[in-house]
Amino acid sequence: MATTKFDANTTALEVVENLNVNLENKVVFITGGTSGIGVETARALATTKAHVFITARDITKGKEVVEELKKTTGNAQIDVLELDLTSLKSVEQCVQQFRTFQLPIHILICNAGIMAVPYSKTVDGFESQFGVNHLSHFYLVKSFLPELELGAPSRVVMVSSVLNKFQGINWEDIQWEQNYDKWLAYGQSKTANILFALQMNELYKSKGISSFALNPGAIMTNLQNVLSKEEQQSMGYFKDDGSLADFFKSVQQGAATSVYAALDPQLVHSKEIYLENCQVSNVVNDNKTEFVGRATHAADLNEAKKLWILSENLLENCRKS
Ligand SMILES: NC(=O)c1ccc[n+]([C@@H]2O[C@H](COP(=O)([O-])OP(=O)(O)OC[C@H]3O[C@@H](n4cnc5c(N)ncnc54)[C@H](OP(=O)(O)O)[C@@H]3O)[C@@H](O)[C@H]2O)c1
Repeated sequence: MATTKFDANTTALEVVENLNVNLENKVVFITGGTSGIGVETARALATTKAHVFITARDITKGKEVVEELKKTTGNAQIDVLELDLTSLKSVEQCVQQFRTFQLPIHILICNAGIMAVPYSKTVDGFESQFGVNHLSHFYLVKSFLPELELGAPSRVVMVSSVLNKFQGINWEDIQWEQNYDKWLAYGQSKTANILFALQMNELYKSKGISSFALNPGAIMTNLQNVLSKEEQQSMGYFKDDGSLADFFKSVQQGAATSVYAALDPQLVHSKEIYLENCQVSNVVNDNKTEFVGRATHAADLNEAKKLWILSENLLENCRKS
C-alpha cells in the first residue's frame, strides 16, 4: 500500500478532516473512553456524525466525558456504558447493555489498557495485564461478532504498543506466577493484541470484518502515573530543563493512528494489519532499542492461532467454574 500523507505529527482531527468520511448512521464503540488517547479518539470520531459509545469503569466520570464530548463536537449521539475489564461478568453486562440499543457495530476500538502495574489478578484469576489488555477484549470482540457481522464491512482496532518487542507469549507461564516482571507482562499483553488482530483477520476478513493493531506512539497520559518520577526520569521521559522529551506525542497525535485505522477506506485492501504513525507498517524488527515496528513473535500466525485457542479455553474454563 502506498504511504499516506499523514505522519507522527498528524492529529486525530486532521485524519478525519483529510479523509472526509461521513459516518452518519454508523456505530463506533471505544473501550476506555474516559482518559488519554480514548477521549481524543472518541472526539475525532464523533465529528464524523457517528453514534459513538465509550466505556467507563467509573460511570460518573464516563457521563462527564460524554457531556464534554457532546459540547465540543455538537454530536448528541454519544453514550457511555459501564465496563470493567478486570471482570468477565462486567464484559457480559456491557454487551447486554449495548444490545438494548439494537444496533450493529461498524468500528470497534479496543483501546482501554493498563501498563506496568504491580502484580495482581483479575476477578477471574488472570494476571491483570493479560486479563485487562488481552483476554477481556478477546471476550468482548467475540461477543460482539453478531453486531460486527451486521455492521460489515466493519473493523476491529486493537491499540497495542511498540513495547510488544519486550516479550512474546510466555507460554511456560502466561499468568506470570513465577518471576513477575511488570514490563515483560505488559509486552506480552501488547503482543497478544497484535496476534489477536492477525487471527481475527484470518477468521473473519471473509465475513467483512477487518482487524488491525497499532502502536499509538509515546504519549504522557494517566497510563504513566503508575511509574514513579524517578522511574520516568530513568526512562528518559524528561529533558534537563524538566520539559517532556521530544519523542512524546500529544494526546491528539496519539489518537491519530486509531482514527486512521478506523477510517481509511484503502486499509481494507491491505495485507498488513499493523499500523504506526498513521501508516501501514510492515517493519518486523527485534531490536528493542529501536522504537519502530513489531517483533517477529508479534508477526507469527502460528503464535496467533495458538493464543486464540488458549484464550478460548481459558474463557471456557471460567464458564464451567
Ligand atoms: N500512552 C502511551 O504512551 C501509550 C503507548 C503505547 C500504547 N498505549 C496504549 O494506549 C491505550 C490507551 O492508553 P492511554 O495512554 O490513553 O492511557 P489512559 O489515559 O490511562 O487511558 C486508559 C483507559 O483505559 C481505561 N481502563 C483502565 N483499566 C481499565 C479496566 N480495568 N477496565 C476498563 N477500562 C479500563 C481507563 O479508565 P479510567 O479513566 O477509569 O482509568 C482509561 O479510559 C492503552 O491500551 C495503552 O496500552 C499507550
